[in-house]
Amino acid sequence: MFERISHKIRSGLSQAKLRLEPRASPTLAAVGGGGPNPGVVCRSSMAQGEDRDQAPLSLPDYEARARELLERATFDYYASGADDELSLADNRAAYARRRLAYRVLVDVSRIDCATKVLDTEIAAPVLVAPTAFHRLATAEGELATVRAAGAAGTIMILSSLSTTAVEDVVAAASGPVWFQLYVYRDRKATEGLVRRAEAAGCEALVLTVDAPRLGTRERDVRNRFHLPEGLSVANLLPAGYGAVAQPPADSGLAAYFAELIDPSLSWVDFAWLRGLTELPILLKGVVRADDAQRAAQLGVDGIIVSNHGGRQLDTAVSTLDALGPIAAAVEGRVELILDGGIRRGTDVIKALALGANAVCVGRPILWGLAEGGEAGAARVLEILREELELGMTLCGAPTIESLSRDLIVELPG
Ligand code: FNR
Repeated sequence: MFERISHKIRSGLSQAKLRLEPRASPTLAAVGGGGPNPGVVCRSSMAQGEDRDQAPLSLPDYEARARELLERATFDYYASGADDELSLADNRAAYARRRLAYRVLVDVSRIDCATKVLDTEIAAPVLVAPTAFHRLATAEGELATVRAAGAAGTIMILSSLSTTAVEDVVAAASGPVWFQLYVYRDRKATEGLVRRAEAAGCEALVLTVDAPRLGTRERDVRNRFHLPEGLSVANLLPAGYGAVAQPPADSGLAAYFAELIDPSLSWVDFAWLRGLTELPILLKGVVRADDAQRAAQLGVDGIIVSNHGGRQLDTAVSTLDALGPIAAAVEGRVELILDGGIRRGTDVIKALALGANAVCVGRPILWGLAEGGEAGAARVLEILREELELGMTLCGAPTIESLSRDLIVELPG
């Protein structure tokens, strides 16, 4: 899979034109492939014969490109949702159900989309969501992602299931890294993860609470998804849980979860985690106001309103629909971050107008990595910031504080 891809990176800092060297794909190398899946010629919206050097303009463009470039099993793992994928689709549809009532005659000659989460300044209210296995997309894996997040002036949330060890990721970072935690049945191993994240310099812990077992992603079951030779759950190698093997008839990751992740995790365990670390703790995967209120009472520092990108409980409420009641319940007592379906700058505007302090993006980062490694992921974040700035300009909302509820019109039905 060798391509020359040219991007114009129009960051505030540089006007560099990057020419990317050929990418090595660990997936392809490991499974013996020599190019895009031969069974997948051109399934994207991009017509064949179109100028392939033309840089993607939008996050959906990046997805189309990734669909062409990635191994089928990898694309399916990244893209899929649980069961009928209704929540996956509804996370997107929820944005289309809201329209923007923009203001006019506001001075928008200066747009400021910088903000703070947990007292950390970020250039725009868009963080990198924790997603597993970045080395399936690009050889540098999570190192590419953390550099891209740093270039965008934002935070990367590193998955427990990264294919690069947390120490190496933080060492390569130029911005803050938060660590996403899965609680293993082996609590000593879990404690080890927390200690390592803390020692490495991660600035917050994100406890994922929506995955006591893995949702059924049927595409992964059909593909018997597993990690190819040479890739592992790097953070869990010392504990002996590094392999995601190919089971006889299942998703290897679903089998990994069923065997290793602790389904007994409950509210009482929060005290255990709180006692392990001084780091701020966020709960990720909350969609109910009463759960959010309970979390706030227990002293969590933040809540990530998330349904795991529609990958866990199918028909779970969309995150944008869940956000309003949660924002009303917590009344600003904790940081509120939302993820799921953010693909446009106007999506960010709607989430903030409905009460989020910031959002995370998951899959689009993976599409960026697949297309152009670090530069691709950086460009994804940059496009989102550019769209956000334009959206704020056209909304008559020049600051993050001015993104208020009155901008939103809910479509009937
Ligand atoms: C995820 N997500 C996830 N969440 C988590 O807490 N730990 C993890 O390891 C992963 N891994 C993961 C892998 C892949 C391929 C995807 C797509 C997602 C969920 C992720 O953090 C986030 O909630 C969603 O990705 C947000 O939805 P969008 O932005 O992908 O639509």
